[in-house]
Amino acid sequence: MKYRRVDDRVPIFATPHTTGASMRTIVAGNWKMNKDLAGATGLVDALVEGAVSLPTNVEVVIAPAFPFLAESVIRARGSRIMVAAQNCHEKESGAYTGEVSPSMLKSIGVQACIVGHSERRQFFGESDALIGAKVAALLAHGITPIFCCGERKEERESGGHFQVVTEQMKGALGRFSNAELSCVVIAYEPVWAIGTGLTATKEQAQEMHAHIRSLLHTHGAEVAAAVPVLYGGSCKPDNAEGLFSQPDVNGGLIGGAALDAAQFAELVGIAGRLKSA
Ligand code: 13P
Repeated sequence: MKYRRVDDRVPIFATPHTTGASMRTIVAGNWKMNKDLAGATGLVDALVEGAVSLPTNVEVVIAPAFPFLAESVIRARGSRIMVAAQNCHEKESGAYTGEVSPSMLKSIGVQACIVGHSERRQFFGESDALIGAKVAALLAHGITPIFCCGERKEERESGGHFQVVTEQMKGALGRFSNAELSCVVIAYEPVWAIGTGLTATKEQAQEMHAHIRSLLHTHGAEVAAAVPVLYGGSCKPDNAEGLFSQPDVNGGLIGGAALDAAQFAELVGIAGRLKSA
């Protein structure tokens, strides 16, 4: 059975496919700093209610803000929907006012955590080294890191986008063993496409995803086959078809469209249909 219940407390993502198995497909919603308690619980409930009709070949993840995580885990329990955090601290515990550790997330049943989102890099000065430390802390607790990378507009315009993503990957993930790397999910999110309505074309997405796959290949075919690479950046039901149909795009990390149950479910449906072959 592909989907485990949240209350099994076993990170479903930490069971990588072996070489030759078909690549996993994931659609994850990053809610960012949106919703209040009523809005967040209402959205979880709506998704849980509709979850039975979602395609079973897609792993469905939601990432509400910290205050709503525990309640979201409780409400999603027994459903196919997994709950992720949007960030964490790299230390186990201690005098780090305002921070949240992976062990805290683990204790409430959170299964995955976004790290290195461009908004964290841009507004909170997160470096590749810090992001790597967060990935290590998450892996130590069996929480799946959803590692974000992607270039800024000027970096693409100057032709440096492959180099930027290579450096982000090496800087944050270079220290891990193959077994550890195989437990990571990668999200390619071109910064110029986030919240702008500009989306990478399917060709641009495929080209970068293939590049990321080739970087993973340097760690061996098993790693390349185990790590899903999601696309993020103004992904909506009306452009997802082209993006999700690309061979190296294994689903999406969705911002704005994840705040609406119907749109998010539609995206899961599109991924399920395109990746069912
Ligand atoms: P949008 O889908 O709103 O562009 O956000 C993408 C994103 O940043 C997901 O992490």
